[in-house]
Amino acid sequence: MRFDIITIFPEILSSAFSAGIIKKAIEKGLLEIKVHNLRDYTHDKHRQVDDRPYGGGEGMVLKPEPIFEAVEKIKIYPDAVVYLLSPQGKRFTSELARQLATKSQLILICGRYEGVDERVAQYLVDGELSIGDYVLTGGEPAAWVIVDAVARFIPGVVGKPQSVIHDSFFNGLLDYPHYTRPREFRGMKVPSVLFSGDHEKILRWRKRKALEKTWRLRPDILAQKELSSEEKRLLDDIIKEGERNESD
Ligand code: ADE
Repeated sequence: MRFDIITIFPEILSSAFSAGIIKKAIEKGLLEIKVHNLRDYTHDKHRQVDDRPYGGGEGMVLKPEPIFEAVEKIKIYPDAVVYLLSPQGKRFTSELARQLATKSQLILICGRYEGVDERVAQYLVDGELSIGDYVLTGGEPAAWVIVDAVARFIPGVVGKPQSVIHDSFFNGLLDYPHYTRPREFRGMKVPSVLFSGDHEKILRWRKRKALEKTWRLRPDILAQKELSSEEKRLLDDIIKEGERNESD
């Protein structure tokens, strides 16, 4: 899969993909990430990428011409998808990350907080994407987040495919708790079930903990999930236990 990021600050992203799992995936040839300087698609002496807003107002607005030209040059695969990164966009989710990982090319345009000429959103891109309800100074941190989250779904990028399946959000639940050595640290103990050697029991415990965490921390995602009968039973138990603890 190929990722293309269009930005006026390529230096922000220059080290983003040069370590860890993403770097290994690039070396293995599983993905390619190209960061493009928007100024390279201008034709004037000052390499101007922005201009004052029509109608007046604060700040500068990114001009449409270099963005259109960049996308037209960069887009090479028929199934390529193009997104403008902005706080007005559709919320980026794990499910969208999984879908985007099936494409040959993802092109991300980093906006600036003052704005991007609306013709980009209206006529050039497949949509606008936001990573959350807050305003960044530009789309660069969002591009990093999206490339990272999509890359994890490309087969071979994460060593064990099972890790992706067990991750938070994949099954509509948060991840279960993890522990490593030491068995006891400052009086804090690792749950004994994890030493039982009983894999069935450990699996059930993990499922219950994942449900419990999701119920406590993200009831909104739990409400959207279709629960199996075992999950419903576990959740009833968890809720009853929570009520008992409250009345103690
Ligand atoms: N640009 C500015 N804020 C953003 C956000 N929340 N998500 C994506 N791009 C952005």
